[in-house]
Amino acid sequence: QHRAFVMVAAGSGTRLGYGIPKAAVLLEGRSLLDHALDALTGSPEGGRDRGIARPGQDLVILVLPAEPDAADLTTQERAAHERLTSAVPRLRGAGLAVLTARGGTTRSASVRAGVERVSEHAAREGWQHEGTAVLIHDAARPLTPPEVFLRVAEAVAAGAPAVVPAVPVSDTIKHVRPSGPSEGPAAAERVQSTPARSQLRAVQTPQGFSLAFLTAAFEHIQDLPDAEAEKLTDEAMIAEDLGTPVSVVPGHTRALKVTTETDLITARALLQHEET
Ligand code: CTP
Ligand code: MG
Repeated sequence: QHRAFVMVAAGSGTRLGYGIPKAAVLLEGRSLLDHALDALTGSPEGGRDRGIARPGQDLVILVLPAEPDAADLTTQERAAHERLTSAVPRLRGAGLAVLTARGGTTRSASVRAGVERVSEHAAREGWQHEGTAVLIHDAARPLTPPEVFLRVAEAVAAGAPAVVPAVPVSDTIKHVRPSGPSEGPAAAERVQSTPARSQLRAVQTPQGFSLAFLTAAFEHIQDLPDAEAEKLTDEAMIAEDLGTPVSVVPGHTRALKVTTETDLITARALLQHEET
């Protein structure tokens, strides 16, 4: 089984609001991207966890933001860009094949750019699409433990075309709808229904697919009207649309996504907790 890891790190981090790409934001002195890569290479300090990428075999694709315009670059932006690109020699130093791709304007477009590189590599190396697992991971989930990557990779290797890691939800989730004009001014929304919590899961990354499935999936969305294609915001949703089964494996609370400052504080606390 061949294996490629696509790290999507091309988002702008608008909700975090640091003025630099989120993947370059520092957490305890290292970028979110570097933390996320620890699952593949092991952390520089050794730590408990060893990396799961296989030197000399596995491929890593880094999907990075476009290089900022050199003319009006702040020191901060330049440093951010350098932090992201420094991941390339780090991964090569760990014996891994590395390619970069430039991200698109949406996560889906960035994923597609990354998977294109995987297809090119597969063609050069003679990798069969059926026997190639592609794990797509958000750099915005910097503390995802290696075991989650392994669970996803193993499910794909066992023949699942699409795999997502997921955790139970602790909040009660309600389906809401906008209030109608005749329903009074009390609130903008009304509760429609409450799905049974026992059947709900919060999904994380890495999400795993066979390269054969991804190739078919991208062909499928090309054939859809734009408005329909835009609704399919992750690749598992394309599988659902195609009627392809999506397998669920256990995720991890440490795989939290850093979206806002609160999440960054949580991630910092988790790291500090581990050190003591
Ligand atoms: N991503 C990407 N390309 C994009 C948008 C997102 O590669 N055009 C990546 C991000 O880098 C991140 C993951 O997709 O690793 C999840 O996206 P999100 O958490 O939304 O990150 P941002 O888009 O950077 O954040 P925001 O939406 O607040 O701007
Ligand atoms: Mg975003």
